[in-house]
Amino acid sequence: MESIVRQHGKSSSSGTGVAVTDRLGRPLRDLRVSLTDECNFRCTYCMPEELFGEGHPFLNPRNLLSFDEIENVVRHAAAMGVQKVKITGGEPLLRPGVHTLVRSLREIPGIDDIGLITNGYHLATVAQRLRDAGLERVTVSLDSIDPDTFDRIVGRGGGLNRVLAGIRTARDVGMDPVKVNMVVQRGINDGEILEMAEFGRREGVEMRFIEYMDVGRRNEYNRSLLVPNREVRDTIHARYPLVANEPAYYGEVAETYAYRDGTGRVGFVSSMTQPFCGSCTRLRLSADGKLFRCLFSGIGLDLRSILRDPDQDDETRNLQLDTAVRRFWGIREDRYSERRAEEKSLPGSRREERVEMYRMGG
Ligand code: GTP
Ligand code: 5AD
Ligand code: SF4
Ligand code: SF4
Repeated sequence: MESIVRQHGKSSSSGTGVAVTDRLGRPLRDLRVSLTDECNFRCTYCMPEELFGEGHPFLNPRNLLSFDEIENVVRHAAAMGVQKVKITGGEPLLRPGVHTLVRSLREIPGIDDIGLITNGYHLATVAQRLRDAGLERVTVSLDSIDPDTFDRIVGRGGGLNRVLAGIRTARDVGMDPVKVNMVVQRGINDGEILEMAEFGRREGVEMRFIEYMDVGRRNEYNRSLLVPNREVRDTIHARYPLVANEPAYYGEVAETYAYRDGTGRVGFVSSMTQPFCGSCTRLRLSADGKLFRCLFSGIGLDLRSILRDPDQDDETRNLQLDTAVRRFWGIREDRYSERRAEEKSLPGSRREERVEMYRMGG
């Protein structure tokens, strides 16, 4: 097979705030904000129907941070170096009026990139509104373009055609890039790798192949389902030659490649086989206001109790918030995916608590 050559990408931009750095020297740059723990799909690896049937107790709406509260947290985070906000869930578009949140986050000094990750089901309906509010890019999860396989993976809700319409509408209203995440699972959708690459090329969207991870506890992780991204990349490269890009910014999660024939680009997120904890700049805010320093954390820092403390005035609350977040990041040592690779096993006892991805924000 031909080797893959490198080309240069764009450089990173700088923030405006006083940066905080964790114990491993990693700056805080990204905040992933979950708007809800609910979802209209039941993906087998995230919210299997057997465990998340009708009547499953999701968060009480009273306990969700309001958009004003989220904006307040983002302002503090921006002052500490956060430049990028990713709106996520559960399924964030189940929350009404997400465009109003986008509009207010755009006004925050230091925030220069806002993204949103969705399952795409409601995207066609709101894409124009989101674009008008200033959302420039979006990521849609799509594991299959075969209607039966799609239904099997997403369990409940279905609607491949609606998701495809969502992707196309986002592209047509001018979101750029539109990224499409495919979690590849052996024996389930790995037969569609080339087809999905072709889908990306044809539709003008950036396919991203994601290694199946042992996140959370609910998916009863089965390592034999993991398809290493090297294999995925080689399959694509053999048919459509690739040229590697330099990372676009420090801590970029995906390794990206351009198609040599100029037909767009493709990305690989390889947290299982090539962990990227060394440059992990991500903090997660759950829908009920807890901060998590790692996707594999068991405990979070409760910001909601600070935000809603009735005994404090605004100034004191803001000071407490600032101090708490700085301290929380300052003592961070998390590097779960690297430990997993070093120990060649899944770190931590099965009894150790771990928060599910749909709860903390994927
Ligand atoms: P973009 O800037 O939009 O490209 O965001 P991103 O590269 O962070 O990608 P996205 O939000 O689409 O996340 C892609 C996948 O990467 C997720 O589905 C996760 O599987 C994985 N991922 C994202 N962040 C982390 C992380 O901090 N740790 C690990 N282990 N995996 C992550
Ligand atoms: N492994 C890899 N990716 C996952 N996602 C959800 N669960 C997993 C997992 N176990 C992906 C979703 C979505 C993003 C937020 O995370 O497909 O694209
Ligand atoms: Fe919903 Fe995304 Fe989880 Fe699937 S992976 S159930 S779309 S939150
Ligand atoms: Fe960051 Fe934790 Fe993911 Fe490593 S495992 S990249 S520290 S979120």
